[in-house]
Amino acid sequence: MKKVLVIHGANLNLLGLREPEIYGKKSLYELNKKLYEEAEKLGLYLVVYQTNSESQLLESIHNAKDFFDFIIINPGAFTHTSIAIRDALLSVGIPFIEVHLSNIFSREDFRKHSFLSDIAKGVITGLGEYSYILALRYIAENES
Ligand code: DQA
Repeated sequence: MKKVLVIHGANLNLLGLREPEIYGKKSLYELNKKLYEEAEKLGLYLVVYQTNSESQLLESIHNAKDFFDFIIINPGAFTHTSIAIRDALLSVGIPFIEVHLSNIFSREDFRKHSFLSDIAKGVITGLGEYSYILALRYIAENES
């Protein structure tokens, strides 16, 4: 069974309350419930983690080494600032998909740059919860 870690970064605990016109009305709990349901259908082992702390996010990537086969990560604003998260992902060598709820290319200029995209297996942005669901489906159907 493939083991997948979903990491939600900064401010994603506020989903549903936070700018719902951009990020939707669903809470993180509701999103995670969907992800667990989808993972079960797809036969994936799934762990979901959220943190607002960059250091804890780094630890979660380090601790994933030698256990998880794939990471799906939405770093939130750390996407646009964190060389440390890039280095952590390169260090553990676990393939990952970068996901975003909103389309980062249709927003402010500072969101158009990601420190992760060029080293990601793929990037899915702008499809709301489907960004995560499609990433799970890709892993289930394509990654050995
Ligand atoms: C986000 C996009 C980021 O620019 C923003 O800082 C977030 C959420 C998204 O899922 O659309 O916190 O990653």
